[in-house]
Amino acid sequence: MTKLSVNINRIALLRNSRNIGIPSVIEAAKTAIAAGAHGITVHPRPDERHIKAADVYDLAKMLTVEFNIEGNPFQPPFMDIVCDVKPAQCTLVPDAPDVLTSDSGWNIPENRDRLLPIIEKLKNNGIRVSLFMDADPALMPLAKEVGADRVELYTEPYATAFREGNVESVFQQYALAAKAAQSVGLGVNAGHDLNLQNLAKFCSIPDILEVSIGHALIAEALEMGLSNTVQAYLKILSDS
Ligand code: PXP
Repeated sequence: MTKLSVNINRIALLRNSRNIGIPSVIEAAKTAIAAGAHGITVHPRPDERHIKAADVYDLAKMLTVEFNIEGNPFQPPFMDIVCDVKPAQCTLVPDAPDVLTSDSGWNIPENRDRLLPIIEKLKNNGIRVSLFMDADPALMPLAKEVGADRVELYTEPYATAFREGNVESVFQQYALAAKAAQSVGLGVNAGHDLNLQNLAKFCSIPDILEVSIGHALIAEALEMGLSNTVQAYLKILSDS
């Protein structure tokens, strides 16, 4: 079954709009875990606009499931935090500091020489490394070559095509990219704009190991409650 890692950035975003500590990212993580989530994801950014460095350390102390920390390794203090905390997985994302949200995968040829030592350092710390990638089958051998264990397919174009009702050719592209990654020995994760409507079709691609879902899940939780929402996602994953 594909694992669900719940991204709790949006809980921190709401918390940061006041100075009274609610909603609590720790409580949200506990609720998601109690509901069956297999992992918790955070994406600390240099401006700490949602998840702060302190949240990452606090979460690391209490988590009983896999911790996935996403971010750009070339923006301090990301690597210091990750190497201190030693999460199960680190997902490297090439996002500029000022973007609203991650908006593309790695250009590996351009970043190869910078990525190689970073990935080696993470792996020497016992951390599984995933690279955020566009769904281009030709890029998958390059991700393997720089030492990644997994790729996370950037699913925003899939989600957009799904919403617009013309998903088929885009979906095929993702299926081919996943197959290309698996054929060179990479595990395949996925994330971005996945939701209760579009997840089942995406997970009909064989052997997707993990999806990390935040924005839609937290929005849906406003209506359904966090626990019920996590369970609704888990049901889709177990039925896929
Ligand atoms: N994967 C990465 C690399 C991301 O940056 C994000 C957003 O923080 C997600 C997955 C989750 O996307 P969403 O919040 O749209 O579910």
